[in-house]
Amino acid sequence: MKTTVRGVRSVEIEMGEPERAAEFYAQIWNLKVVERKGRSVWLRGTGAYHHILAIHPAKGPAAMRRLTFDAANRAIVHALHNKVAAGGCATEAPHEIDAPGGGYGFGFADGEGRNLAVVCDVRDHADAADVPDRPRKIAHVNLNAAQLENSNAFLIDVLGFRKVDHSGPLHFFHCDNTDHSSMVMGATKTPTLNHVSFEMPDLESCMRGGGRMRDAGYPIEWGPGRHGSGNNVFCYFAGPEEFPIEYTAEVLQIDDSYEFHGPEYWKWPPGRLDQWGITPPHTARWKRIQDMVLFTPGTYRI
Ligand SMILES: [Fe+2]
Repeated sequence: MKTTVRGVRSVEIEMGEPERAAEFYAQIWNLKVVERKGRSVWLRGTGAYHHILAIHPAKGPAAMRRLTFDAANRAIVHALHNKVAAGGCATEAPHEIDAPGGGYGFGFADGEGRNLAVVCDVRDHADAADVPDRPRKIAHVNLNAAQLENSNAFLIDVLGFRKVDHSGPLHFFHCDNTDHSSMVMGATKTPTLNHVSFEMPDLESCMRGGGRMRDAGYPIEWGPGRHGSGNNVFCYFAGPEEFPIEYTAEVLQIDDSYEFHGPEYWKWPPGRLDQWGITPPHTARWKRIQDMVLFTPGTYRI
């Protein structure tokens, strides 16, 4: 068994108007509310994970509170905790989790102050069949790093990811599942969120979701198109409070035989930004919001 995670289980975000955001993610983004506590709301996709998104009240602007990775079992949780602690991260001992979905795991802050967590044994759902036009799960999270080499090394050396591609400014990381990548890293001046990508069951659902978003007043900020690395289709949006989100589908499925390619391989003909050659450039708004959302400092304990 690989000593790494099985992907991004969930993200927790902070919103100035959490009720409005929860209504959006349930009614328009097509997740489903599974639990409410105070002003916090937990929502699931059609996949088995207990929840894939938690929305909490913000004290300031929209923020990322936490990114939680899924682990196969307690042995993996303990092995990863040992590596995280040995790496000098602020962390807590693995423990039973008293939060919606429960589980066993630990939180920590990485070298750039991001709140991350690794959990297993969550009370997941028995039903996990695809539903047209509803997201299954989080496909990947794309983060911006101020110390890109260190952040990439942390994913590889501590959390056990494998770097599977480097395309333009983006580095793609694969873990213990069949998806091409579950984490994507790029460089900026401050560590921020680039976007959270939600996986739709197919291309049709990705397009229908794009139309539903436009109808609701959330235009496509970049896309539709098909990426090179990862081969996935994409539509990017500014969600409530301009939180950067993506619908994706048809993510390339790989195994250990997948061969790394660098930026010299992933090149487009002039004027082209996706495989189809159909997407216009991303909007000025997308350019702004993909380097806007900070992690809330000091809240790594779960
Ligand atoms: Fe993406």
